[in-house]
Amino acid sequence: MNIRDVDTPALVIDLDKVEKNLKAMAEYCRSHHINLRPHTKTHKMPSLAKRQLEHGATGLTVAKLGEAEIMVESGVDRLLVAYPIIGRPKAERLAALCEKADVTIALDSPEAVDFAARGTSERGVRAGILVEVDVGFRRCGVQDDQAALKLAQRIIDCSSLEFRGLLFYPGSYVTQETQEEQLRKVNASLERLLDSFQANGIPVPVVSGGSTPTARFSHRFSGLTEIRPGTYIFNDRNTMLHGVAQLDDCAGTVIVTVVSKAVPGKVIVDGGSKTFSSDPCLAGHTGFGLVKEDPEAVFVAMNEEHGYLDVSRSGRRYAIGEKLGVIPNHICATVNLHNEVFFARGETVESVCPVAARGKIR
Ligand SMILES: Cc1ncc(COP(=O)(O)O)c(C=O)c1O
Repeated sequence: MNIRDVDTPALVIDLDKVEKNLKAMAEYCRSHHINLRPHTKTHKMPSLAKRQLEHGATGLTVAKLGEAEIMVESGVDRLLVAYPIIGRPKAERLAALCEKADVTIALDSPEAVDFAARGTSERGVRAGILVEVDVGFRRCGVQDDQAALKLAQRIIDCSSLEFRGLLFYPGSYVTQETQEEQLRKVNASLERLLDSFQANGIPVPVVSGGSTPTARFSHRFSGLTEIRPGTYIFNDRNTMLHGVAQLDDCAGTVIVTVVSKAVPGKVIVDGGSKTFSSDPCLAGHTGFGLVKEDPEAVFVAMNEEHGYLDVSRSGRRYAIGEKLGVIPNHICATVNLHNEVFFARGETVESVCPVAARGKIR
């Protein structure tokens, strides 16, 4: 079947582009001796997780235990849950996972240490722990080396936990434009932290960082041993706007149908916020996606099932029923809205793949 014959809205994934993206990141990591632990929250599909491992990933990352459970069921045996596990039900699920796989979690509070310690010791299993440190993203992460040391010591004191190192998330906070200045600041924090750990005789085997926007200068972060990029497998309009991907690197396209052009200057397509998510694009830009067929069209607004294209400045003629391909702003949030994706090579659909870990928000 041709991708234009798929009923819409539909998310089509180009497997040739996926392979190219996986290969390029794996090569970068290999050449800089950095371990690659891709974040699977982008694709949520065990078959693609396996391809990442086949390309040399040393393990995989998830955000939620529900995603971890899907990955472990499919045979993945090394996982990082890069998200604080809080509460007894989750601590019990974490411990159950530790029976089946080598699981590491990231945390930044004594409460999280205690939940993990209780869950694992009651079940007689061990979990690896990374202490999350904030290097400027201001989301999670302990704020200074003393707090990091204190948490590490609390972990070391629990026999069912193993302190494995530090984790930070540079997000898109360190951008190409601000790279030198931000790198200097992040590296100053990392070096201070690593010096403090050394002075206290606590080995730090893992320093886990990296995101797609920062991936290609990961080798310049002090002490970094692994990265966790997620979006790189598909890319999206935001990674293009960040300047780390070209249109040809974008493997995920939402195919939509023109359903109305009754209002002058507007074209309505059959995908809105329930198809694309409402995630905005990078500051300084507008729109909810890039219409591949018409760079002059601006995807200005969405209702749940309606996408509004402003075509008032476009010379293109649109026809009711024609199909368009849109690169979403944020592919990870888009994938999570689709029960299945259409795997294609070029214009040909090869198979339909369920998004097994979609909606696994607990
Ligand atoms: C903790 C953590 N690590 C890694 C990533 C991957 O970032 P990206 O999708 O930009 O590659 C994310 C993304 O949300 C994250 O929250």
